[in-house]
Amino acid sequence: MYSDKVMDHFMNPRNVGEIENADGVGQVGNAKCGDIMKMYLKVEDDIIVDVKFKTFGCGSAIATSSIATEMIVGKTLEEAVELTNTAVVEALDGLPPVKVHCSVLAEQAVKAAIYDYAQRHNLVIKGMENYVPIDEDHDHHDHDDEDEE
Ligand code: FES
Repeated sequence: MYSDKVMDHFMNPRNVGEIENADGVGQVGNAKCGDIMKMYLKVEDDIIVDVKFKTFGCGSAIATSSIATEMIVGKTLEEAVELTNTAVVEALDGLPPVKVHCSVLAEQAVKAAIYDYAQRHNLVIKGMENYVPIDEDHDHHDHDDEDEE
């Protein structure tokens, strides 16, 4: 059901932890499953030089955040903004359909951290012009963009 890559990143997640004095921090959650992902960035000259994450969530959320950190380290902020959940799923050699939302969390966590960095520096990152921050206080809301069952 899970690819070797998913299992590998779940069992041995890369870049777990937090960065003290991070330049950007993003936290996102999924109201339905209750999983939470937090991403920390160290940025130098517009390049992400270090990434760490903490995920309180399912195995797929851990695997997707782990691989997402590997995919954005060394990239410019503009490049990292382009990371999609589909790319994350592909890099993991697939996820079961019911677990695709976990990869969405990884994409959102990266964007939230970059947005935080941009806010602190009064920047608008290309590709983020229309970005709307996700309400961290999501527990009290019902997002209608999530599919109803
Ligand atoms: Fe919700 Fe995986 S089950 S993030």
